Amino acid sequence: MFFVTRREIFSAAHRLYNPKFSDEENERIFGKCSNPNWHGHNYILEVIVAGEINPETGYLIDLKLLKEIIIKNIIDKVDHKNLNTETDFMSGIIPTAENIAAAVWNQLVDKIPDGKLYSVKIYETENNYFEYRGE
Ligand code: NI
Repeated sequence: MFFVTRREIFSAAHRLYNPKFSDEENERIFGKCSNPNWHGHNYILEVIVAGEINPETGYLIDLKLLKEIIIKNIIDKVDHKNLNTETDFMSGIIPTAENIAAAVWNQLVDKIPDGKLYSVKIYETENNYFEYRGE
């Protein structure tokens, strides 16, 4: 089994809050990330595809193609956007890094032409990253 990783970087604004909770509760649960006036992160996204190598190309998946799929379906919709209000596939979802990883997975899982989507990782800070493998 081989694994191929494509890394992309994007900047986005968000606010973590649950409309069911009061502002005080949101502040207690989500801290600074609940600022009503938004704030941003420089996110790193890693998409990992697993599979066997095609003997005719030596590739598991053409990375140029994987890059194009990620740009079109994810980066174009999140980079320099507000994840709460501008990103269609995050609509109604609290934009924690966990939920972003799961939403990215759902966008990409049926669009990988060779091999299978294995993992989606979102790095929100240098020290925190979140991984979803679809189960
Ligand atoms: Ni935040």
